[in-house]
Amino acid sequence: MSEVFVRRAVIKGIGQYLPENLVTNADMATRVDTSDEWITERTGIKQRYFASPHETCAFIAAAAARAALSHAGVEADSVGAIIVATSTPDNAFPATAVQVQAAIGAKNAFGFDLAAACSGFIYAISVADAMLRAGQVSSVLVIGAEIYSRIIDFTDRGTCVLFGDGAGAVLLQAEQVATTGPGILSTHLHADGTLADILYVDGAVGRRDKSGYLVMNGREVFRHAVTLLSSAVTEALTENGLKANEIDWLVPHQANRRIIDGVGKKLGLPAARVVVTVDQHANTSAASIPLALCAAVQDGRIQPGQLVLLEALGGGLTWGSALLRM
Ligand SMILES: CC(C)(COP(=O)(O)OP(=O)(O)OC[C@H]1O[C@@H](n2cnc3c(N)ncnc32)[C@H](O)[C@@H]1OP(=O)(O)O)[C@@H](O)C(=O)NCCC(=O)NCCS
Repeated sequence: MSEVFVRRAVIKGIGQYLPENLVTNADMATRVDTSDEWITERTGIKQRYFASPHETCAFIAAAAARAALSHAGVEADSVGAIIVATSTPDNAFPATAVQVQAAIGAKNAFGFDLAAACSGFIYAISVADAMLRAGQVSSVLVIGAEIYSRIIDFTDRGTCVLFGDGAGAVLLQAEQVATTGPGILSTHLHADGTLADILYVDGAVGRRDKSGYLVMNGREVFRHAVTLLSSAVTEALTENGLKANEIDWLVPHQANRRIIDGVGKKLGLPAARVVVTVDQHANTSAASIPLALCAAVQDGRIQPGQLVLLEALGGGLTWGSALLRM
């Protein structure tokens, strides 16, 4: 019987950038009334990186993009589109993606930013996947880049210890592959705007009457997170006719160790098959999944041919999942 081929978005390269300034929990305890013990016990976070003034959102996004292109062995001028998932752009416009286009010399690419808070990377690869499968472009750089240190309130110990800065990027290319071959298999996006008030940034460009700081009801976010993430993950498994034990790796959004463990447990996945970087990076919002993916690809845990399930939840509320074969 002849094999069936399909057009899929395949990850060809992955890269990351972490700011120079490493900030430990002990460092945070010199700024607010907290302790390494409290942060570790409640969140699993041990350290985060905070960007210096020259490390703008466009700068870190471009650095991650260059790393992904170099990993793929692809020149910037072959990129057709750039999508930057971010809630912390340097400018309302031009979009971060267009600044990246200039910085890396991707002169044939169009670009735009996408804001879906911590679900931004899942939303962005879903859009890229649709553009690639439709034949609109043949390669897309998808970047998650965030500088939360510029929107966290350093007088609020309940939130400022949770977040960090960083950027991760993947280069996706359209390929004709066997149905058993690599690529994004499905993506699943959700939102519930009635829950906007449990996690939001108070204001934006042009609202100088607002604080511009992140506001969160941590308990409420926690209450929704495991349930909504587990349902998004189950949706991806059902769509692809898979059982949880057939997944090689769960690469979750890195918000909180307890949420990550909760979803892993609900799925019945052994902890050894869940990629965790929240201890190293804290919550880097839209950058957290590509940073985690990059870590596990670089250290050789994630191998070609393996099934990888991504999931995220963030402000909006927004949440979703994506299943792919490397
Ligand atoms: C934020 C979170 C860790 C707080 O844990 P919690 O058990 O809910 O803690 P609470 O907010 O109820 O606070 C408990 C106590 O710790 C204190 N506390 C809060 N932040 C603290 C800190 N950084 N250091 C020390 N104590 C702290 C509170 O003031 C409170 O003290 P009190 O009992 O004397 O009033 C937890 O709610 C959480 O992880 N939520 C999900 C957040 C998240 O992941 N958001 C991003 C999603 S994308």
